[in-house]
Amino acid sequence: MTITSLTTPARLDDAALGLLFDDAHTTNAFTREPVDVDVVRRAYEHLRWAPTAMNTQPLRLTVLGTPESREPLVAHLSPGNQAKTLAAPLTVVAAYDPDFHEHMPVLAPFRAGMREQLAPDAELRDGLARTNGLIQLGYLILALRAEGLQVGPMAGMDAAGVDGALHAENGWRVLAVLNVGHAADPEDERAQFPRAGRLEFDQVAVVR
Ligand SMILES: Cc1cc2nc3c(=O)[nH]c(=O)nc-3n(C[C@H](O)[C@H](O)[C@H](O)COP(=O)(O)O)c2cc1C
Repeated sequence: MTITSLTTPARLDDAALGLLFDDAHTTNAFTREPVDVDVVRRAYEHLRWAPTAMNTQPLRLTVLGTPESREPLVAHLSPGNQAKTLAAPLTVVAAYDPDFHEHMPVLAPFRAGMREQLAPDAELRDGLARTNGLIQLGYLILALRAEGLQVGPMAGMDAAGVDGALHAENGWRVLAVLNVGHAADPEDERAQFPRAGRLEFDQVAVVR
């Protein structure tokens, strides 16, 4: 058995950390350079290793490549999120699957009978799926940034309307919408807002 934590480098270099964190900036308007759907596929190959409770992996994605494919979505977004979503090179709708338990025999062979145990408790499943889908959503943003892309996440929407428009057949529930592009539009001063404050470690952490 290989213990990967002993064989991988101890730390990313500063350029990689900048790409993922310090220099990464929420983006509202992008250059016209198209984003190939395969980039989302590559990002998924990384994010799928994210940890989730009992390895549930409830995140589900709907990739909308064309403005026409986004029209049913855009009608249910907050007014301030509509035009920028239609104009983005690519939009990814991140959702969770409340019926994730159907995959448990494969995802959690170490928890025998979990599919049957979860099946009758829709409330428990919904909570597990939402929490763990949000963890995977964070990893999705990082994975897209690791592919050199800029991301504009949005939660301003009528969630029931989005689910009615996009998820009627599969029962998924929306978590957030991500607009994705290669770089911020240099012509648009609202493409990236000025950095707002960040909390310091000592404001958010107690060390005992
Ligand atoms: C889950 C989530 C929901 C958000 N919802 C919206 C939104 O509805 N509309 C919007 O313009 N920005 C939205 N944002 C963008 C945040 O305001 C932005 O990421 C944050 O202020 C940090 O900005 P920065 O990356 O430029 O520092 C959202 C971000 C996240 C992660």
